Amino acid sequence: PNPVFSTRICRYGAEALREAALLIRAGEPVAVPTETVYGLAADATDSNAVAAIYGAKGRPSFNPLIVHVADKDMAQSLAIFSPAAEKLASRFWPGALTLVLPVREDSGLSPLVMAGLLTVALRLPAHPAMRALIRESGRPLAAPSANRSGSISPTRAEHVLASLNGKIRLILDEGPTSEGLESTIAAPEQDCVRLLRPGPVTAAMLEEAAGLPVIIGTGAKIEAPGQLESHYAPSKPVRLNALNAEKDEYLIGFGLMPCHMNLSVDADIQEAAANLFAMLHLADASAAKRIAVAPIPDEGIGAAINDRLRRAAA
Ligand code: TXA
Ligand code: MG
Repeated sequence: PNPVFSTRICRYGAEALREAALLIRAGEPVAVPTETVYGLAADATDSNAVAAIYGAKGRPSFNPLIVHVADKDMAQSLAIFSPAAEKLASRFWPGALTLVLPVREDSGLSPLVMAGLLTVALRLPAHPAMRALIRESGRPLAAPSANRSGSISPTRAEHVLASLNGKIRLILDEGPTSEGLESTIAAPEQDCVRLLRPGPVTAAMLEEAAGLPVIIGTGAKIEAPGQLESHYAPSKPVRLNALNAEKDEYLIGFGLMPCHMNLSVDADIQEAAANLFAMLHLADASAAKRIAVAPIPDEGIGAAINDRLRRAAA
């Protein structure tokens, strides 16, 4: 049985940061905002700490974690960068891109982080709270989204509390996240870039920066195991491409239309991405029996929104 904690939310600041770093040093996971979603961070070099992440999330141990670094030097001490990987990192880091790279033998990472793979997923985040926590604790931080496995990712501290109350000690609160969707995951290979999870950095952006074709989806060789399961799922049935609300439905709209809540009245796709998970959380908590979502254009980050919506509806 997992231990039970009293979970506190602390506004991000010097004091909260110090406390969070002490917890990390003691092998405890801490919830911390990034520009994409809130993460549940722990020392990636400490197997007990990494096991505590899996325990708190109820995450299957075959699903590997993303390791967050504070700078390029830390990244290079953990993984091997090909020329294409270099190009992608220098263009999109710090930011919402995770690179799947061959892990170094002397990385010092807990093997639990990679769940048995020979690659590691690395990200250099832009959010000051996550960067400060990595620096202050002096460790690379493994951090999946800070929610119970299989549920909607958290874009606010309250979402983390609702999902992980009693399972972790501390949540650093720095308001709603700006991107609203999880990072893009890409694996640079010899002659292509594999897009393992669509996100804020689009396929077109990857192609342009790497100078290589982007292949969407997992190959036979490499996979994002978390992508295989139904994911990002609210507890209620979800209907897509809805133009109006049927009986017992809560309609999440896009652009000018009658609905219960609107992702973006101005049909701004970036605003819709930032609002998506918070509105799914609200729809899930509403009195309606089912959730309906308006059609979202597939342009830019719209491709990532539609990926998450298909999973929510699956
Ligand atoms: O925006 C994000 O990426 C957030 C914030 C906290 O950084 N994190 C996040 O982590 O979304 P998580 O655990 O919810 O998703 C990580 C995904 C999983 O689908 C996992 O299978 C994949 O990354 N992954 C991790 N290591 C991998 C590897 N070596 N090869 C392929 N996929 C990997
Ligand atoms: Mg997740």
